[in-house]
Amino acid sequence: MSKAEKERTEHAESTGGAKTDASVDPDALLKVEGLDAGYGDLQILSDVNLHVADGEYVTIVGPNGAGKSTVMKSVFGLTTHMGGTVTFDGKEIQGNLPEEIIHEGIGYVPQNENVFETLSVRENLEMGAYILDSVPEDQIQAVYDRFPILEERSEQKAGTMSGGQRQMLAMGRALMLDPDLLLLDEPSAGLAPDLVAEMFDRIDRINDDGTAVLMVEQNAKVALGRCDRGYVVVQGENRYVDSGEALLNNEQVRQDFLGG
Ligand SMILES: Nc1ncnc2c1ncn2[C@@H]1O[C@H](COP(=O)(O)OP(=O)(O)O)[C@@H](O)[C@H]1O
Ligand SMILES: [Mg+2]
Repeated sequence: MSKAEKERTEHAESTGGAKTDASVDPDALLKVEGLDAGYGDLQILSDVNLHVADGEYVTIVGPNGAGKSTVMKSVFGLTTHMGGTVTFDGKEIQGNLPEEIIHEGIGYVPQNENVFETLSVRENLEMGAYILDSVPEDQIQAVYDRFPILEERSEQKAGTMSGGQRQMLAMGRALMLDPDLLLLDEPSAGLAPDLVAEMFDRIDRINDDGTAVLMVEQNAKVALGRCDRGYVVVQGENRYVDSGEALLNNEQVRQDFLGG
């Protein structure tokens, strides 16, 4: 056994057998390779490797402050790039601006403050397509068809809507340019339990219709139960990667990250 193999075996034992394979599928839609990133001089992420295949549904879980949101922000050009690459559809995008990244086909729903409160629902959706010369009416209608409550409330100010409705609006806005990849940072945060289930159903449908999804979730058990693959990010590194089901069934992951 080579030294590297021995280290891998020992590591696999210390992680309860969960895969820690950092390899990135060369054909994936999104590839994050050896990514170092942070804020100004402060490095948060260290050698993060992950991928999302075309049409795949991938979840990132991990403790508070681990760097999950920072991974999402880094894909969308909102952090300081310090090393490594982010490749989308064969093109390197690390260091690009968010408005350039939107053009490439990535939509992003931030964890907080993800709607313009003083604007109406419809105006929020229009903002999602601000990089276009004209308002894409057919796309607004497509979002209304997906989230009928948004059509009913089209003239209402976003700031007066409930948490669940705002979350739908934020998703609708991110879908306005019909992205190939949707980044969702804690879409179920702050929602009542029945709304959490509804939100996950809607995400399933968006993914079933062909949009790849990379999602961060605190509701780790539910999220891992629904997605194709999951990553567990700890202290700025991805520590485990496997199918959602395998992570759910892994003793070590359950004890350390899923509350038993
Ligand atoms: N804008 C920022 N400036 C400086 N540090 C930040 C900023 N945003 C997050 N951090 C720090 O980065 C680390 C990871 O945060 P974050 O990615 O939000 O974690 P998670 O989403 O996993 O809870 C934390 O230590 C946090 O304090
Ligand atoms: Mg976060």
